[in-house]
This record gives sequence, C-alpha cells and structure tokens, in this order.
Amino acid sequence: MTGLFISFEGTEGGGKSTQIELLANWLREHGHEVVVHREPGGTPIGEEIRHLLKHSDANVNMTPEAELLLMNASRAQLVREVIRPRLEQGCVVLCDRFHDSTVVYQGYGRQLDLESVRAVIHHAVGETQPDITLLLRVPVSVSEERRRAREESEPTQRDRFEEADREFFERVEAGYDQIAASEPERIRTIDATKSVDEIQAEIRSEIGPLLSP
Ligand code: TMP
Repeated sequence: MTGLFISFEGTEGGGKSTQIELLANWLREHGHEVVVHREPGGTPIGEEIRHLLKHSDANVNMTPEAELLLMNASRAQLVREVIRPRLEQGCVVLCDRFHDSTVVYQGYGRQLDLESVRAVIHHAVGETQPDITLLLRVPVSVSEERRRAREESEPTQRDRFEEADREFFERVEAGYDQIAASEPERIRTIDATKSVDEIQAEIRSEIGPLLSP
C-alpha cells in the first residue's frame, strides 16, 4: 500500500498552516489517516536544526552553504524517520515545505549554484518526491504586509530568514514562478490572495482526484 505525499510551498503570509489544518481535517473526516509535518523540523533532530537555522543566537554568521546542508540534514532525517514509513502504511503525508523550498530559498534566494543545490537535495531525499505540490502564491508586497501585521498582533521570536532584504524575497518569488512553470504537472499554483474558503476549495479540487476510495 502506498500513501499520498503532498507538499505545500510559498512565501511567508500565504496561509499555508491554516490551509494544511483545514485539509487535514477534511481528509480525516473522509476516513484517511493523515500525518502533518513541517520543514525544517518534523523530527526531534529536525526541530533542533530548525531552532539553529531560525532562532538561535548562534546563527548570525551562518553561511549559505551551511544553511543548505542543515536544511537537508533535517530533511534526510524526516524522509527516513517519518515520510517513507508513513507512506508505506498508506497514510496521506502533508508537509509544510519540502525540497522546492531549498531550490528557491538557497538556490534562487541565496544564489547558490543550482546544480549543487539539486545534488544535495538528491542525496537527502533519494526517490522520495511529493506526488503533488500546492504553491500558495502571494506577491512580495502582500507577504510583507501580512508579516508586519502578524508581528504587531503577537510577539514573535527572532527569525533569521525574516532578516533578509527585499531583493532576496523577490528572487524567491521569481524562483517559485520558474519551478512552477517547469513542472506544471506536479506543482499547482494557487492564488493565495483569495479568501481562506476559496483557497481551500481549490486545494480540495486538486487533491480529490488523487485519493484512493
Ligand atoms: P516557516 O516554517 O515559518 O515557513 O519557516 C521556515 C523558513 O525556512 C522559511 O523562511 C523558509 C526557509 N526554508 C529554506 O530556506 N529552505 C528550505 O529548504 C526550507 C524547508 C525552509
């Protein structure tokens, strides 16, 4: 029995976590066994790596190369500890970000050589690829606005990624558009400026046909 592997992608403020939760509830109501994970993270080792990458005071001088390898150390662990065994049990695995984030953030954003980035990813994931990827797309300006609103409404931990400049996020946005254009079968772009309900309806119409009865 093989399950279904769905990844969610997009810049900050696209509402990924809300949409993943709604989809997970809907799938469970329809009798599917669902597991939800995020990257970096999702395992005890991965969560420590996540802290180092995002919040730790020790990360101020982190190089893009170290960032690339840490992202993929977390991923190699998640793939073997969680994703493969769960897929073998027939579960639906929902992952908040997967390898496309590395291509886009470390490749396009940090401007590391794309071929090297893909080689590292391949080492981490092998043949484990999402069956479908939902790209929740919001323009950089909307993403910035939503991030600001969130920071004002709730106290947030320092996040090293949010310290990057606007050009970085513009390269990330362009990167997402390029990979979506190059793999239209797997990567489905959804306009995430729409309402929560409209976005969820689109997601369900993409996923519905892939589910086993
Ligand atoms: P998030 O869980 O709040 O989306 O934070 C994860 C951050 O890490 C986000 O800024 C995107 C970034 N990231 C990468 O740069 N490369 C990766 O491979 C992954 C999975 C995330």
